[in-house]
Amino acid sequence: MNLTPMAEILNKANKENYAVGGFNINNLEFLQGIIEAAEESRAPLILQTSEGAMRYIGKDYVVGMVEAATKNASIPVALHLDHGSGFEKAMECIRLGYSSVMIDASHDPFEENIAQSAKVVEAAHSVGVSVEAELGQLGGTEDDVTVDEADATYTRPDEAVEFVARTGVDALAIAIGTAHGVYSGEPELDFERLEEINEKTDIPLVLHGASGVSDDDVRRAVQNGINKVNVNTDFQQAFTDRVKKIFAEDPEIYDPRKYCGPGREAIKERVKEKIEILGSKNKA
Ligand code: 13P
Repeated sequence: MNLTPMAEILNKANKENYAVGGFNINNLEFLQGIIEAAEESRAPLILQTSEGAMRYIGKDYVVGMVEAATKNASIPVALHLDHGSGFEKAMECIRLGYSSVMIDASHDPFEENIAQSAKVVEAAHSVGVSVEAELGQLGGTEDDVTVDEADATYTRPDEAVEFVARTGVDALAIAIGTAHGVYSGEPELDFERLEEINEKTDIPLVLHGASGVSDDDVRRAVQNGINKVNVNTDFQQAFTDRVKKIFAEDPEIYDPRKYCGPGREAIKERVKEKIEILGSKNKA
C-alpha cells in the first residue's frame, strides 16, 4: 500500500500548527468520500478503522480497498488502527500493512497502560510503524469501547509527561471533556488542561470524539496543540441523513446506488468542511 507513517504526517502538523483528520471508514462509500475530499483539498489524511469496522468490512477487504484508494494518491495517507485492544491486534494490523496503530489501554491502571503501550511502541517502531496511545478516558461509545460518563477521567498533565517519556509514543490521545458518539448536552472542553498538557509535552496530541463539538471549539483545540482530530459519528450522520431524505422523497427507491451514491457525496462535503476547520487544506 502507498502509505505514510502517521508520525511523519503529524510531526509536520505539529510544527506548522494545524490538525489532520483521523477519519473512520465504515464501508466503501466512506473510504471513497473521504479520500476524494482529501485529494481535492490537498490535505494529508489519516484513514482509520475501529476493530468493529474491521469485522464489518473484513480485514482483507479493508486492505484491498485502501490499496486501490491510495494507489494513485497525491497526498500523504496513513492507515491507522483506532482503539486497538491489545498487543496482538496491533501486530495483526502491522502484518496487514497498516502504517500506524493505536493501543488503547486507557481503562487500565497507569503503570499497566504504560507497560502495554511501551511494548507496542517497541515492536511497531522496529518496522517503521507509528503508535498512538491514550491517557485518561472519554465517555460514550466507539464501537467496542463503551465508557460510562461517571467513569470518564480527564488526563492529568504531569502523568502525560511521564507517560510520553516512558512509552515513546508518537501521538497521545487525551481526555479533556469530549465523548464518543452523540452528545446529550453541549460538550465543555477543558482548554486550560489542554494548554498545560501541550506546554509540558512536545508530541502531537489527539482529540477523540470530535463529532458534535462546535467548529469554534475544534479550532481553539487545534490552536492549543491538538494535531489529530478523530471524526466518525458526524460522517455517519451525514450519510444517513442524506439517505433518509432520499427515501422520504421516493419511498419506492430500490437501487442502492441511487441512495448510497448521494450518501457518499454527503460524506465528501462534510469531510471538506472539517478539513477547512482543522487547517490541513493545502498542507499535503
Ligand atoms: P466520534 O464518533 O464521536 O466522532 O468519535 C470518533 C473517534 O474518536 C474515533 O476514535
